[in-house]
Amino acid sequence: MDHFRWNGSVAMRVPWHIGPDLSDEERVAIAHSIQMFQLGENSEGRHLMRYAKEWAERTGDAVYPEAIRMLIVEEQRHAGVLARFMEINGIARITRGCSDGIFRRARNLFGSLEISISVLVTAEIIAKIYYPALSAATSSTVLHTICEQIHREEIAHVEFQTEQLARIRAGRSALGTWATRFLHRLLFYPTVMVVGLSHRAALRRGGLSFWQFCSRSHHEFVRDLAAMEPQAVSRLSKRPASETEAMRKTSLSIRARFSKSRAGSH
Ligand SMILES: [Fe+2]
Ligand SMILES: [Fe+2]
Repeated sequence: MDHFRWNGSVAMRVPWHIGPDLSDEERVAIAHSIQMFQLGENSEGRHLMRYAKEWAERTGDAVYPEAIRMLIVEEQRHAGVLARFMEINGIARITRGCSDGIFRRARNLFGSLEISISVLVTAEIIAKIYYPALSAATSSTVLHTICEQIHREEIAHVEFQTEQLARIRAGRSALGTWATRFLHRLLFYPTVMVVGLSHRAALRRGGLSFWQFCSRSHHEFVRDLAAMEPQAVSRLSKRPASETEAMRKTSLSIRARFSKSRAGSH
């Protein structure tokens, strides 16, 4: 939760004074893609909040619902900042999308916290590859700043969600863990392919072919899937005492990684 507190106090210093800074060609190239992601970021998170409260009641983890509330606020901020950027640059917002609807329904399919955050983290893992590519797709300073920050926050979200999934899965049998992994792969890979295909124009402009996008997503997923394993829970207790300071350092190294990955996409 320290991440959300710390991040909330420094977040999103976007240079709005620059105004519209997309060329016509750039706007046409990314419009559809940014519309879809803006829609995906926008969620009230009512169901998720309910599951988080149920988890807290069951386990006594009273901090968790507050952390989820802050996460939802951060997601809504992503949606808000993207919407403002789109408006300034003459890109209309959309209120409905086919894949977005499927994602929302899937999150609440079985009414469980585990399914809900498994679906959510799937989108966030993909977002870690998408936002640097979106940034590299244009020369907009405003969009570079937005993408850098969202990317940094999605990395922290994935870390937070994978920790929680490891906690939920603690004590699960080897067969149960295998089945969970299998089902998550079944969700992840088709999703990556659908995103890769439907956003291929923007990704290609950002320097990623469809296969490069799939391959990078796969690598992120393999690492994050390991962090969701029940055994990962024992590693959580070895975290540094000053988590806020650790998060600040993580943020700086993530910034460096982001710059590198953006440079690599060109
Ligand atoms: Fe987000
Ligand atoms: Fe997120």
